[in-house]
Amino acid sequence: MNVISFKKPTTYFLSLFSLLLAFSVSTSTLQAQDGEKLFKSYCASCHSPGSNQLVGPGLAGVYDKYEREWLYKWIKNSKALIASGDEQAITVYEQYAKVEMPAQPVTNVQIDAIMDYVAAYIPPVKEVPGGGDVAMAEESSEMSGYTIAGIIVLFLILVIILRKVQYIFTAAKARDAGEEMPEETTMTQALLITVANNKTVFALLGIVCLALFAKGGWDSAFGVGVFQGYEPEQPIKFSHKLHAGTNGIDCNYCHNSASYSKTAGIPSPNLCMNCHTYIQEGPEYGKEEIGKIYAALDFDPVTKTYGPNQKPIKWVKVHNLPDHVYFNHSQHVTVGKIACQKCHGPVEEYTVGKQHAELTMGWCINCHRETKVQMAGNGYYDEIHERLPEELKKQYLEDGTITVSELGGIECGKCHY
Ligand code: HEC
Ligand code: HEC
Ligand code: HEC
Ligand code: HEC
Ligand code: HEC
Ligand code: HEC
Repeated sequence: MNVISFKKPTTYFLSLFSLLLAFSVSTSTLQAQDGEKLFKSYCASCHSPGSNQLVGPGLAGVYDKYEREWLYKWIKNSKALIASGDEQAITVYEQYAKVEMPAQPVTNVQIDAIMDYVAAYIPPVKEVPGGGDVAMAEESSEMSGYTIAGIIVLFLILVIILRKVQYIFTAAKARDAGEEMPEETTMTQALLITVANNKTVFALLGIVCLALFAKGGWDSAFGVGVFQGYEPEQPIKFSHKLHAGTNGIDCNYCHNSASYSKTAGIPSPNLCMNCHTYIQEGPEYGKEEIGKIYAALDFDPVTKTYGPNQKPIKWVKVHNLPDHVYFNHSQHVTVGKIACQKCHGPVEEYTVGKQHAELTMGWCINCHRETKVQMAGNGYYDEIHERLPEELKKQYLEDGTITVSELGGIECGKCHY
């Protein structure tokens, strides 16, 4: 490519200009990405990039509200700025209940990147909640159970009433005729007599009941071990909706290991304390539920000290694959680039943790059959590419038409120990 030509000065300048433009565009996108990372590692434990108050105020709009020079000073050492008598700093400090913002080890360039990220931040849009059909299905199968029980109870009541009526009539007849009073029939006798007198009706009823029971049995036999929708009660009323939804806390902040290891893990109570050292009351349960974190850590919220009697929080595991199955988060999240929500549903809308997908073998295999592997630009596959014959390289890399199953993703040994 002959970008820089010396024939005419104008072409020369134009080329140089476009090169510079390209360079500045690429560096500015780099900065926005860095900004997000920097924000998450330095600021996200106390600030939302939107307008929600966490430990500190939401940062939306601060880039317009304050002079850049002031921001540098504030972020790098707010305490010093307040101590220097800076009026604006004192106002901010007093406005937010005099909670001190610790000095942040960031440079001016990094602050610029963070501010670019905050300025471009758009709060997540809520998805339409999925799984509605699941709840429906459960309801209707419960319905058929109740219907059967209802029919049987009604039928028994009817038999008892009929038996009484019949007895009253026969007794009255006997009395009128001056005969001996008949003996009252027992329940079973009455049942047998009624059935004997209405054979066809009962034959039909029998068939219907059998069919319904058989269907129920079929469903439960094939549903063994399937806990879709499982929603156990947890020791602390932790709400994903409040944390990941309303307050926009990133999944990785708490389930960091999903991106590099087999498990996603449940955060330790110490991580909760990054925020809950300061946030001591919740919008719904006041001090009660957050108090349980303190109890687990033997933490005194007044003196902010930890005692010796710490015990773990016993979260109830929602997802449970059998021991003979191997599943790896990083393979799916980092290599496969699959969003958490694809397998776990709209978690940011759950007030109670629940199992969204079936987690059956069919569920895993179907996705492996349908999903194309994202190979291009994926470091994980570099080494495999080297070993591929040329014609396959084109097919795998450029066309990107290889599914997980074609790579061996439905071989038994891949998922079973
Ligand atoms: C440990 C908690 C904590 C961390 C971490 C933190 N801040 Fe703060 N920040 C606060 C608090 C609390 C305030 C409220 C002011 C005060 O009381 O000092 C605040 C105030 C601010 C303000 C002023 C907001 C306003 O509306 O007036 C800005 C800007 C700010 N922080 C930026 C940052 C940036 C950027 C980072 C990351 C590099 C960061 N903060 C990290 C706690 C924190
Ligand atoms: C503030 C920390 C925090 C954030 C942010 C968070 N989680 Fe969680 N997550 C937890 C805790 C604590 C539990 C255990 C309690 C429960 O199951 O509700 C949990 C449980 C889960 C479970 C169920 C685990 C099991 O027991 O099988 C899934 C799935 C999950 N989180 C996914 C997500 C996703 C996806 C996001 C982002 C949208 C997210 N989490 C954001 C703290 C968090
Ligand atoms: C990044 C900050 C952050 C982290 C980490 C965090 N929380 Fe929270 N938490 C919040 C915010 C913000 C609120 C809402 C406060 C409000 O709206 O008044 C909250 C509220 C709560 C509430 C109160 C619910 C209510 O409605 O009363 C509970 C309980 C809670 N969190 C539990 C946890 C647990 C358990 C962990 C650790 C697994 C955790 N939080 C980690 C920020 C955090
Ligand atoms: C391809 C589907 C899939 C994706 C994508 C996925 N998960 Fe999971 N997740 C699972 C399965 C399956 C389990 C059950 C694992 C087990 O029981 O061994 C699970 C379990 C969990 C658990 C329970 C604790 C553990 O590690 O077993 C948490 C928490 C969790 N996932 C969070 C996340 C988060 C956060 C993301 C996104 C960063 C994510 N998952 C992405 C399928 C997925
Ligand atoms: C939403 C789609 C999806 C679901 C559901 C899913 N996977 Fe995967 N899985 C993928 C993708 C995509 C890859 C390929 C990632 C890569 O290596 O590029 C993959 C790769 C794998 C691999 C590595 C395969 C290989 O050839 O090396 C294993 C093992 C695996 N998955 C197990 C499971 C198990 C077990 C389940 C069910 C509990 C499951 N997966 C559910 C999409 C899915
Ligand atoms: C993509 C991952 C995956 C592959 C490939 C796979 N399985 Fe499975 N298999 C699973 C999962 C997940 C379960 C657990 C299902 C459950 O608990 O409902 C399972 C369960 C089983 C079970 C036990 C059934 C039960 O009810 O517990 C057997 C047997 C089995 N698989 C055999 C095989 C054989 C044979 C192959 C190869 C033809 C194979 N699997 C390939 C994921 C896989």
